[in-house]
Amino acid sequence: MDQPIGVIDSGVGGLTVARELMRQLPKEQLIYLGDTLRCPYGPRPQEEVIRFTLEMVDFLMEKKIKMLVIACNTATAYTLERLQQQLEIPVIGVIEPGARAAIKVTQTKHIGVIGTEGTIQSKAYPIALHHISSELSIFDLACPKFVPLVESGAFSGMAAEQIVSETLAPIKQYTMLDTLILGCTHYPLLTETIKKVMGDRIEIIASGTETAREVSAIMSYQQINYEGERLPEHRFYTTGSPGLFEHIANQWMDYPVKYIEQIAIDQTRK
Ligand code: DGL
Repeated sequence: MDQPIGVIDSGVGGLTVARELMRQLPKEQLIYLGDTLRCPYGPRPQEEVIRFTLEMVDFLMEKKIKMLVIACNTATAYTLERLQQQLEIPVIGVIEPGARAAIKVTQTKHIGVIGTEGTIQSKAYPIALHHISSELSIFDLACPKFVPLVESGAFSGMAAEQIVSETLAPIKQYTMLDTLILGCTHYPLLTETIKKVMGDRIEIIASGTETAREVSAIMSYQQINYEGERLPEHRFYTTGSPGLFEHIANQWMDYPVKYIEQIAIDQTRK
């Protein structure tokens, strides 16, 4: 099927999922929308995150996407079920894939989850993890300073290391823990710094790989893969500054991000 896959996030974080989608599904075209202007979503009330997410979805539905990937944990926690019921296309979130990936690697069955205030308050990860296995112990922690750090492009260096180290101090004391879920799609951009702070003993889990695997499985099952030969030209939209978006995207992606357009999303809703 020659239609794009839509990917949404509050900002640049969803690029960590888009990168995995490009790797695992190299023929598929992506349309990415990051609501950078209104990022972060994490501290916002639930109703506001829902409204912003629905606005993003409206924009992508007009682009005739064949599948939607909510590449934002906060938006997944608040809108996944609703969008799965509402839309006629398959809708995938990032929380269940992240939970599955963590359960595959933990030996001690003590799992840490870090995310935005919204994601942590929603308890979406403990629910998803316990749904798969009731034997797990989960330690979750909100890291409100991480998203602004990533959106500013400062992923590494002394300042980043200090913020990450201070924030993760409570989780570091938990000695039984062997697995840490990056429950926010922005956090994989901080992986090196997080690894440095947490040490080699802890497996760091990002949901991108498992999410892309799920997207691939659903597309095959529904027979909506693109079967042609042309190489995809991915499109990137942001509600914020295209310059900073491009800078971060090109640091992170293996694909040269050229087509970036700034849009005013709240005007797209009728
Ligand atoms: N990438 C979003 C997530 O996974 C970041 C949320 C935010 O904007 O605070 O939750």
